[in-house]
Amino acid sequence: MVRICMITLFLLATQLHWSFTHGSSDTVRKAYIVYMGEALQSKASAIDLHHNLLSSVVKDDHIAQQSKIYSYTKSFNAFAANLLPQEVQRLQENENVVSVFPSKMQKLHTTRSWDFLGMPQSVKRNHQIESNIIVAVLDTGIYIDAPSFDDKGFGPPPSKWKGTCQVRGNFTGCNNKVIGARFYNYASTTPHPNPSPIDEDGHGSHTSSTIAGASIAGASLYGLAKGTARGGVPSARIAMYKVCWADGCNDIDLMAGLDDAINDGVDFISISIGGDSTSYFDNPIAIGAFHAMKKGILTTCSAGNNGPSLYSVQNTAPWILTVGASGMDRQFRTLVKLGNGIKIAGLSINTFSPNKQMYPLTTAVKAANGSLEQDHSPWLCDEGSLDANKVKGKIVLCKEGLIQDYVKQIGGLGAIVSLQQQSDTGFTFAIPAAFIDTNVGDKIEIYVNSTRAPQAVIYKSTAVHNAATPFVASFSSRGPNTISSTIIKPDIVAPGIDILAAYSKLSSVSGDLEDNRFDVYNIISGTSMACPHVAAAAAYVKSFHPNWSPAAIKSALMTTASELKIKDVQAELAYGAGQIDPVRALHPGLIYDVSKSDYIRFLCNEGYTGTALKVFAEENTNCSSIPDIGGHDALNYPSMYLQLNSANSSISAIFHRTVTNVGLKKAIYKAIVKAPATLKVTVVPKELAFSHLYEKKSFMVVIKGPPLNNISSLSASLEWNDAKHRVKSPIHIFLDI
Ligand SMILES: *[C@@H]1O[C@H](CO)[C@@H](O)[C@H](O)[C@H]1NC(C)=O
Ligand SMILES: *[C@@H]1O[C@H](CO)[C@@H](O)[C@H](O)[C@H]1NC(C)=O
Ligand SMILES: *[C@@H]1O[C@H](CO)[C@@H](O)[C@H](O)[C@H]1NC(C)=O
Ligand SMILES: *[C@@H]1O[C@H](CO)[C@@H](O)[C@H](O)[C@H]1NC(C)=O
Ligand SMILES: *[C@@H]1O[C@H](CO)[C@@H](O)[C@H](O)[C@H]1NC(C)=O
Ligand SMILES: *[C@@H]1O[C@H](CO)[C@@H](O)[C@H](O)[C@H]1NC(C)=O
Repeated sequence: MVRICMITLFLLATQLHWSFTHGSSDTVRKAYIVYMGEALQSKASAIDLHHNLLSSVVKDDHIAQQSKIYSYTKSFNAFAANLLPQEVQRLQENENVVSVFPSKMQKLHTTRSWDFLGMPQSVKRNHQIESNIIVAVLDTGIYIDAPSFDDKGFGPPPSKWKGTCQVRGNFTGCNNKVIGARFYNYASTTPHPNPSPIDEDGHGSHTSSTIAGASIAGASLYGLAKGTARGGVPSARIAMYKVCWADGCNDIDLMAGLDDAINDGVDFISISIGGDSTSYFDNPIAIGAFHAMKKGILTTCSAGNNGPSLYSVQNTAPWILTVGASGMDRQFRTLVKLGNGIKIAGLSINTFSPNKQMYPLTTAVKAANGSLEQDHSPWLCDEGSLDANKVKGKIVLCKEGLIQDYVKQIGGLGAIVSLQQQSDTGFTFAIPAAFIDTNVGDKIEIYVNSTRAPQAVIYKSTAVHNAATPFVASFSSRGPNTISSTIIKPDIVAPGIDILAAYSKLSSVSGDLEDNRFDVYNIISGTSMACPHVAAAAAYVKSFHPNWSPAAIKSALMTTASELKIKDVQAELAYGAGQIDPVRALHPGLIYDVSKSDYIRFLCNEGYTGTALKVFAEENTNCSSIPDIGGHDALNYPSMYLQLNSANSSISAIFHRTVTNVGLKKAIYKAIVKAPATLKVTVVPKELAFSHLYEKKSFMVVIKGPPLNNISSLSASLEWNDAKHRVKSPIHIFLDI
């Protein structure tokens, strides 16, 4: 079980290891980020301030100079430095400092997908405005030679663009599609010999092309997923900020990328990266996204791949649009046939076609390394577990895991991997391979044991139709939100299983060293793949409504999202408002906008006070003067969430919300409530009559019900309907015990 988790992680998110330098904790300097809020007017005075602060806590002047790693001066005021614990403490006490947090390592978390979302190639577009939209992608770099990044027909970058293109190493330069590319590796413990913005992983090219890749007919991965590969906004421009390297994405580099992106004049930021949830001031993505939001830039982030466990969602700040992954109607199946004629539908992305009708088959136990230690089960087919002589030229049956490089190295021709927990996601392997159900695996084992010359063959994968979609991917991280218990996260879901998009030829298709397939396309899965779909949908909405705020665009996407066909047991904690419907999001009718004072009130409610709040909000805000109206009510959020911590307290809550009319000038919206019989949901008033555009109307949602007892959650919804628009908000009540 442990093994398969690791493999899944690796394939979903490119598993990255990182560890602190060990040593006595108060003599070893560690990298910290010191955050001080809004950027100062002058870069020079910010750098002076950083030096002065450092000198005031680091006694030796030379060490103070040396300890600074980086100054962030463009979009916010912060610096990174190597510090001792006592220095950290003294900085924390300084009145200019909002937060000091250790720099950690974050992880990286189709053609068909846009059709599936009801956005065919012929969809109505504002090409002119779309081509002025710049989307910043913080990722592993970009492989500009992939056809998806062709700039044919593009004019020069929009005049607002202030970014640059760092031409280094094998990175040959930008074009009018990829207008910017920078790289950051100030924090690297294993410096790259020749760093450049080039994508040596594939992840960054994949996410970028899902957002704004050009339309390329006949794209496929060795014939799989054949169709037209394209981004959601193919006329938009890409700016790549390479903050991830072979060992992960360091906070120091992430902060630097965000500092530049916000200042370069981008319209959106897409981040398919995450780590453990931390307080918003101790998190570079939350800090960056906050400053971005204040400049009208919406940041979209992946929710993480730690599902289906509850409390696993990442990137949960309310000013971030947090995206989970759903499955599409197209899935891949890999047929496995045994010598006795039995056929099994396996799961993988297998591009290899068999050359022979049948191959010899063995099991990991039969082919086990004879001198294996007692507690080392050969079933995982991991390093050293098998006897090369017994695997050579054969397909091997493994359980719960597979080190594909190893099986290939010792001459194995394929692997059938039986899993106890059903997977909904196909993976790419360096050898022909497929996941199968454990019951079937047991039957194969009996077949091998009872047959003199057992045989099997693994066929190339084929696309099959799955009518039961959309559904939430099992790996997609679930709520509740551990940082703010007042907001449902993720906000929304988008396709993230088996997505075909651009790739880098500098990384093999499976990422394995033994794999010699290199392609400009690949099919991969993860919330990393879902996030850019939503970033693109947001850009699409903006191309029709250039003046909408980040919160308005987010509201439009959330209130028009479609319901999931398969109701996940975790309901809204798995899919938020539902699956994006970009075309419907152009006409949301009403929007839930969020003002700056809402965010201040929210932060007060969350317990952020004093210096932190003052700097964060640029104003002398005294939380005591802001009435406490209950956390779930602090923000004008498009979803409503109530978390209870006692099974026997009655449900009683009031949500206050305000909607802005962006539909028809004159309209009457009626409230339609869906709720379980036990829950009494009253909307006051029941009707909202608008007489002009941008008119605002407030209302209350009063929720009453008996104690939840042994029920863990309840789902309801409120829809405002004027017969032309449906403006739907999920309501979720969760018992947190
Ligand atoms: C450029 O790429 C080639 C092969 O693709 C590689 O051998 C070489 O090391 C690369 N050079 C740099 C500077 O990265
Ligand atoms: C077999 O297992 C032993 C003990 O773990 C190990 O030392 C040896 O290298 C293994 N043999 C092979 C061929 O991997
Ligand atoms: C198959 O045979 C192996 C020994 O070769 C044995 O360890 C295993 O238990 C057998 N499996 C079944 C299902 O009979
Ligand atoms: C904040 O307001 C409260 C009550 O209005 C007052 O007692 C307190 O002194 C104020 N604090 C600051 C820092 O102004
Ligand atoms: C409420 O439930 C808790 C356990 O969940 C129990 O200890 C407590 O006595 C209950 N209180 C009432 C008033 O029923
Ligand atoms: C708890 O759930 C069980 C079935 O799941 C039900 O029979 C029982 O009545 C419930 N108890 C309460 C107190 O709601």
